[in-house]
Amino acid sequence: MGMMGEDQVQNRDKRLKVFKEDYMDWEEEEEFEEDMEEIDGEMGICKNTNSPFYYDQVRCCASFVVSDALEPDFPIIYVNTVFEDSTGYRADEVLGRNCRFLQFRDRQAQRRHPLVDPMVVSEIHRCLNEGTEFQGELINFRKDGTPLVNHLRLMPISEDGIVTHIIGIQIFSEANIDLDCSSYPVFKQSSSNKPAPFNFNSPTSELYTDNSQHICPILQLSDEVLAHNILSRLTPRDVASIGSVCTRMRELTKNEHLRKMVCENAWGQDVTGKFELSTRRLGWGRIARELTTLEAATWKKFPVGGRVEPSRCNFSACAVGNRLVLFGGEGIDMEPMDDTFVLDLDSADLEWRRVKVASSPPGRWGHTLTSLNGSWLAVFGGCGREGLLNDVFVLDLDAPRLAWREVAGGGPPSPRSWHSSCAVDGSTLVVSGGCTDSGILLSDTFALDLAEERPRWREIASSWVPPPRLGHTLSVYGKTKILMFGGLAKSGGSLRLRSCDAYTMDLEEEEPQWRQLGAAGLTTAGPPPRLDHVAVSLPCGRMIIFGGSIAGLHSPSQIFLLDPYEEKPTWRILNVPGQPPKFAWGHSTCVVGGTRVLVLGGQTGEEWILNELHELCLASSPDGDM
Ligand SMILES: Cc1cc2nc3c(=O)[nH]c(=O)nc-3n(C[C@H](O)[C@H](O)[C@H](O)COP(=O)(O)O)c2cc1C
Repeated sequence: MGMMGEDQVQNRDKRLKVFKEDYMDWEEEEEFEEDMEEIDGEMGICKNTNSPFYYDQVRCCASFVVSDALEPDFPIIYVNTVFEDSTGYRADEVLGRNCRFLQFRDRQAQRRHPLVDPMVVSEIHRCLNEGTEFQGELINFRKDGTPLVNHLRLMPISEDGIVTHIIGIQIFSEANIDLDCSSYPVFKQSSSNKPAPFNFNSPTSELYTDNSQHICPILQLSDEVLAHNILSRLTPRDVASIGSVCTRMRELTKNEHLRKMVCENAWGQDVTGKFELSTRRLGWGRIARELTTLEAATWKKFPVGGRVEPSRCNFSACAVGNRLVLFGGEGIDMEPMDDTFVLDLDSADLEWRRVKVASSPPGRWGHTLTSLNGSWLAVFGGCGREGLLNDVFVLDLDAPRLAWREVAGGGPPSPRSWHSSCAVDGSTLVVSGGCTDSGILLSDTFALDLAEERPRWREIASSWVPPPRLGHTLSVYGKTKILMFGGLAKSGGSLRLRSCDAYTMDLEEEEPQWRQLGAAGLTTAGPPPRLDHVAVSLPCGRMIIFGGSIAGLHSPSQIFLLDPYEEKPTWRILNVPGQPPKFAWGHSTCVVGGTRVLVLGGQTGEEWILNELHELCLASSPDGDM
């Protein structure tokens, strides 16, 4: 950029802004391309002796692309006709997409083609993150699958110090590769593919050598095979550990592309998708580290506008994507409420909005609200005007017309309140325990697959069940596993005590069984017994517990962490700076993307105040995330 005059930059930026607003029409295109060529000529692409590009080619057959750098994932806003001819993709097929589709040979492929050098991709990623120029060579594919060598140059365009657009210039040439015969990898071996220079100071480096100092076979693999076939299958924590083994492993594990794959494998694409914005600033390594060590966890407090009226307690709240939904509750004189409020976390001003929803479920409190299938919410049970309920209502928040729909679901659990629920595998609502009209505590567990055409309740008949309870939590980890914690549990005779026991069940087993975590209970000092607390499952399968009703002087905001995958799970205390809420109740807490825990309703005496919320942020969020 150094050789372009300021006026030219401004002119070009103005033109690019026009693109953004109403994509260019084809007459303007030619003029624009001429401008661009002029500017590029003056920028001296060919004069740069380090450049792998040659000016004649840029002039006559360079394809180019413009991307919007202010939108997530650099969507394409313009391609020229050379791009269309060279790649076989029409402009209307690619506008709005990120240019990485050229790295996929088959449109159905889940991963980029192995011939695409991951090191080059991660270098592109780094340059885009840092707003610097990139020049390099990588394999791309035409729409018909033909491999091409792409001599790619990416140039950031800035306005007031902010990168607003990226211009990509591609010179495509034939790739003389026979895809049927080529063995992977075919791109040039990086210098570090040679047996790595060992850092013998590293305490573990001997693991990789035998007694006669021969290199362990694993280190004779190329960088690409090590990265793609081995390291990408490890957990973020293992990748961090292996990175400390020797210099070469450190270099390999620093690769952003690899780190992204590792996070995707460990947490799934739903979760990693939510980090795309943060990782532009922080990088995948940092996000993985923060969620593993929880070193960035902080409490924050936010004011919220709007009103949830009439005032109430014992409502139930839940996060659906970036929206918080509150349903029902107990109003003055034990009035059961049936209204729905939404708080949009993406809006600049946080504000409760009462939404009109057709065919509302009967008013209630002590019910559960569960988020399923991305945009659905399910209400189950609770205490209504006529007594306890066992009905299920579902609301699709993305539907054009909002309406609660009752799900008939034969053979339901008995009516109850203060039970617990969770969503397993996206669409199965699981309900356990709670309290009957006559005050009897329950210990049963039921599941209802709402993706079925005619959902039917199914009792999960475990041969052993935890003592009956209410006010406990059910959280999901590893997709199909449930962890039950705490609650007010029956403890022999008519005695009921707060519990601090944890139980797990894997619904994928043929005959799922409840098991106590840690055969004789968890040995280390864990969370004090409690009910109506908050339980959050983290993307990596660990759990945190806080809040609820606790006896004595214990602090409800003290956070406890548990990894149910450990051979002998132990509780750890997590010290989190910031301003924690005074109270945190499970039914008034929403978990967004597994990394943000929003606690609604500070309480003063009898009243619940919904005009502030506390957030436990588990990873650094991009500025203005809230
Ligand atoms: C303007 C622009 C043009 C790009 N052109 C190409 C291209 O021609 N071929 C390619 O493989 N990647 C291209 N990229 C890079 C990819 O879009 C993407 O940024 C890269 O794969 C790294 O990101 P990822 O690791 O998230 O995939 C381009 C990026 C930008 C911003």
